[in-house]
Amino acid sequence: PTDEQALRELPKAELHLHIEGTLEPELAMKLAERNNVSLPFADLDDLKAHYEFENLQSFLDLYYQLMSVLRTRQDFTDLMLAYLARANADGVRRAEIFFDPQVHMSNGLDFDLVLDGLLEGLRIGHERFGIDGGLIMSIIRDMPVDSAEALLDTATSRADDLLGIGLDSAEVGYPPELFGHVYERAARLGLHLVAHAGEEGPADYVRRALDFLHVERIDHGVHAAADNDLVARIARDGIALTVCPLSSHRLQVVRDVADLPVRQLLDAGVKVTLNSDDPAYFGGYIGDNYIAMARTGMSLDELATIAEYSLEASFATPEQKAIYA
Ligand code: ADE
Ligand code: ZN
Repeated sequence: PTDEQALRELPKAELHLHIEGTLEPELAMKLAERNNVSLPFADLDDLKAHYEFENLQSFLDLYYQLMSVLRTRQDFTDLMLAYLARANADGVRRAEIFFDPQVHMSNGLDFDLVLDGLLEGLRIGHERFGIDGGLIMSIIRDMPVDSAEALLDTATSRADDLLGIGLDSAEVGYPPELFGHVYERAARLGLHLVAHAGEEGPADYVRRALDFLHVERIDHGVHAAADNDLVARIARDGIALTVCPLSSHRLQVVRDVADLPVRQLLDAGVKVTLNSDDPAYFGGYIGDNYIAMARTGMSLDELATIAEYSLEASFATPEQKAIYA
């Protein structure tokens, strides 16, 4: 228990967190009522019976369904503040947070409403908790590439309010190179580049995210471990992996968190970080992910090193990084 507190208190960065994945079932039900959105669940208990997932897609189905309750600028601010309060309790000093504009825009919302609501949450959260935050606009890879290009058109005038671009949703069948031109445009806007790869997809999708998208970090990336040459390249180039233990367990990427190649990757010199992905769906926030790895036999020292990697691998300025630790 004291070790658990020590793990929560380690100064850390959260680098892989979907803000929509922090929508707890209680808040989803509350917002559904507040916004007159009808959900196909009788009540909270009925909704809560739907949190067992067979794979990534079965999770995404519920995740996208619940997103429809987010309607107003205030909803996005409330969601962000609820997350930052949890993150603060887990020692998070810096949070680089994904959001899925294409889904909200499909639901009829304006890009600016979503972005302004989230930015307001970050501003209040910084005041309240001292957490630095930034937003990574994530491309839905199983929507048409044209829709991603259109999002870039919309986001161009707001590029200064964004930290980076990411790539998420159903991985297999939607390889990185489809989005080469989108990433080229994002780079020209001065955005940092990251992408989900090697979560359900093979090691080769990680290689292609590096080759064709020129990403600076890989989200998940656990399947890269099957390819020794690729692991050596990732280590040599200092590409951090944002591993999410409880997520990969609950999405049945691995049978047990102990089966994740975290130790192997660390031994090969890869900067592994630990993150929560969609904590409202996977049974825990970032501190719980550190604790889950401790239970597999990782020491407090090893986990403190991982926490340091997370701060280093963030896109914070050197001046900011100096303050976090
Ligand atoms: N969107 C939200 N969480 C995701 C994950 N773990 N993988 C892909 N897309 C996601
Ligand atoms: Zn993710």
